[in-house]
Formats: sequence, C-alpha cells, structure tokens
Amino acid sequence: MPVDLHHPVRATLDAVLDAARPDTSGEVASYIPELADVEPERLGIALVSTRGDVHDAGDSDVAFTIQSVSKPFVFALALDALGVDEVTKHVGLEPSGEPFNAISLEAASGRPLNPMINAGAIVTTSLIAGDTVEDKFGVIRSGLERFAGRDLLVDEDVFSSEARTGDRNRALAYLTKSAGTLAADVEVATTAYFRQCSLSVTARDLAIMAATLATGGVNPVSGERVISEDAARWTTAVMTSCGMYDESGHWMVHVGLPAKSGVGGGIVAVQPGQFGIGTFSPRLDARGNSVRGVAMLERLSAQYGLHML
Ligand code: DON
Repeated sequence: MPVDLHHPVRATLDAVLDAARPDTSGEVASYIPELADVEPERLGIALVSTRGDVHDAGDSDVAFTIQSVSKPFVFALALDALGVDEVTKHVGLEPSGEPFNAISLEAASGRPLNPMINAGAIVTTSLIAGDTVEDKFGVIRSGLERFAGRDLLVDEDVFSSEARTGDRNRALAYLTKSAGTLAADVEVATTAYFRQCSLSVTARDLAIMAATLATGGVNPVSGERVISEDAARWTTAVMTSCGMYDESGHWMVHVGLPAKSGVGGGIVAVQPGQFGIGTFSPRLDARGNSVRGVAMLERLSAQYGLHML
C-alpha cells in the first residue's frame, strides 16, 4: 500500500522512536574491539522519499560505521560496472541462511553463495576496478558518496581495529582465492573491504542511500544518477532475500521490505518507488542485527502497511 507522505511523518518517526526506546536488550558488537566504544543508547531514524523529502528523528545525524550496510551499495557498483552475468561468475545471488562470517562456498563453482555476507562481500569488493587498495577503495568511496550525496570519512580507529583482528575475513578471502573466485590479492581485497566497512555514516545518509535504490538509481536529493536502473533493481532483489543473514526469512514475514543491517548498528530498508529508511541503534541481537532498528521497522511496517506483499 502506498504511504501517504502528507501524513505528519516526523510525528510518526518520533512515535516509532519512543516505542523502541525502552528496549535495552542486545549487546554492542565487540569482536571488532573499537566498535565496543559506541554509545549504546543512541537511537535515530530517517526516511527519505523518492521525491527527495527528508524526514528524521532522534540521533539521525550521529555518525557510526557503515559496516555490512556497505555490502549492497558496493554490490550495486559492481553490477553497474560489470553486469550481472560477470558478477555472478564470482558470487551467487542466494540466501545462504548462514551467519555473516560463515564459510560459504558453493562446491561446484567455488563462489560464495550470498553477496550480503562477508565471504560474498569480500569477493564483490575484489571485483571493483583498480589494482591497489587506494584505487579500489577510491572507486568504492566515491560511489558511496554519490549514494549519500556528501563526502564520507573513514573512521581510522575502527579501520585499524578491523585490520588488526580481521583474520577470519582474510581466511574467507584465501578460500575464495584458492577457488578462483576472488578477483584480487587477498590483502588488497580485504584491506579495501575493511576500509569500506569503516566509512562513517548517519541514519540520514543511509536513508538517502536507500532512497537512491528506491528511485531506481537516482539520488533523489542531489538529482544525480548513481547506478543504472537494472543495477538498482538487482541489488534490491538480493536485499529482499539475503539482507538480514539467517534472519532473512523471519524479516520478510514480519517487515516485508528489502533491507540490510550492519554490526555498527545501522539498517537500511527500501520501499521501491516510495522511499528509503535508515535506522541507527547499536545494540545487536545474536545474529548481528540492531534490536531497536528491527523493532522500529517492524512497527512502521505493521502500522503503515509497508509490507510489500
Ligand atoms: O567484516 C566484518 O565482520 C565487519 N566489517 C562487518 C560485519 C557486519 O556488519 C555484519 N553485520 N551484521
């Protein structure tokens, strides 16, 4: 059902925020040591329509690291540059139903099944143009900046922390390298991936990025075409089935919007043709999804009939 954007959206966002606020369950991510320093009480939400109207509430301008929410946007850049046939020689389009750090390799092809978990995302990053970390990450950063419509900085402390503790990700990269699906050196691919995950964003940025997928590839605030309509559609399709890790099926039943979460506490959700939403709340459930982010999106979806089905 289309959403009436003449409804006092700000009041709605405030109400959704207030309903979620008392829930203190979950834990902030600590397997990347620097992430444990985030303020756990932060809570923000933003909604950006495909006309470019920006609505937000709470800590919508507080910066946090994008983490896995970068995955669909880098995937979109790879699809835009190379097309779906080339990208899917390296990484599948299937929900793996596995945790985000799982060893996920299709036996026959050596491809990670799911581009929204670490193994698939590292392969996706390896497909981005450039031979060095600087070149690859330059393309990624400028692409994500066009999605957000502003310059984005790397949180260097989180980056160092990830690079220091990222041996499981290096191991995943080595497995894909040996299977022939990684398209770069392990160190180049993983360092570019760690930098991509350490980009600093706000809930407002995430809503604009999601709205850029909702329009079919045009940033509705800057007016710039960021990716092709096909790349936007393919990316949104993969988010629909793969975006919430081993909670993707539950999510589709209860929220029903293409989405992606990250261990920094962010979630993006897309209502194609209508709007994008970004949420921020750092405490995570056992699967790595933001507890209050999920709660806010469930409430918005139920209250306003956002479920796509
Ligand atoms: O590679 C990692 O483990 C982190 N940089 C990102 C993981 C992540 O955000 C998973 N999300 N829930």
